[in-house]
Amino acid sequence: MTPKKKAPARKKSKSPMPVKSKVEKHGVPVKMVTVFIMGKSHRVPAEATIMGAIEYAGYQIKRGAGCREGFCGACATVYRLPGDYKIYTGLACTTLVEEGMWLSQLPVIPSQKPVYDIEKLEPDVTAFQVLYPEIFRCVACNTCTKACPQSLEVMDYIQAAIRGDIEKVMDLSFDCLSCGLCAIRCPAEIVHYNVGILGRRLYGRYLSPKSPELEKRLREIKEKKFDKDYKKLMAMNRDELKKLYYARDTE
Ligand code: SF4
Ligand code: SF4
Ligand code: FES
Repeated sequence: MTPKKKAPARKKSKSPMPVKSKVEKHGVPVKMVTVFIMGKSHRVPAEATIMGAIEYAGYQIKRGAGCREGFCGACATVYRLPGDYKIYTGLACTTLVEEGMWLSQLPVIPSQKPVYDIEKLEPDVTAFQVLYPEIFRCVACNTCTKACPQSLEVMDYIQAAIRGDIEKVMDLSFDCLSCGLCAIRCPAEIVHYNVGILGRRLYGRYLSPKSPELEKRLREIKEKKFDKDYKKLMAMNRDELKKLYYARDTE
């Protein structure tokens, strides 16, 4: 994150008390709040997301932003609120600012990620014992669950990994964004999202129900059954493709 331009000089405020807004939208005054970005106070619209507020304050976000819609997990943020000892966590693109917020962006969370060959692993607890032995240090404090912006049962999927219940790890970690907020809060220094990825890979490789339709289609592709049709599609221009798309059979 680098400053785009020098922020205009402003008077230092001793406390983050609301100041009467001079910013207007369609002639209506915009409610503003004070937030602290990298230790410096800024007045930003009260309805802004953290990401929007950072940009409103004049910073260009070069790292720590991706989808801007709460899907990619690139914008992990920690913050504190005035008079509250707690450290809060959230995604900068979906969390709204609050009066007096102290913000810190975490564009990268350092983590260990062992390289492994899935063909050489067994779909049971041994895979976790070998690759992520630190999960057995979990003290069941549930801090990871509280930190998760996706409201996942993070502690429960770590406990499932400890039991070797691959299906449960897959199921409970399925919507993980790999934002890393659980990992920075864990007293056992577990990297939860990588544990979840291993569970999902093991499930996909060894345990997921096989689909006869998919197997059949893969065979047909290998036998080049659709090569002629692909060639025809590749030779079409945009308008022809559009026409074909809208004329397709929809069930
Ligand atoms: S499980 Fe961890 S990495 Fe995944 S979304 Fe939740 S906090 Fe982020
Ligand atoms: S934060 Fe770490 S130690 Fe606490 S429950 Fe989650 S995985 Fe276990
Ligand atoms: S930018 Fe993708 S989740 Fe926030």
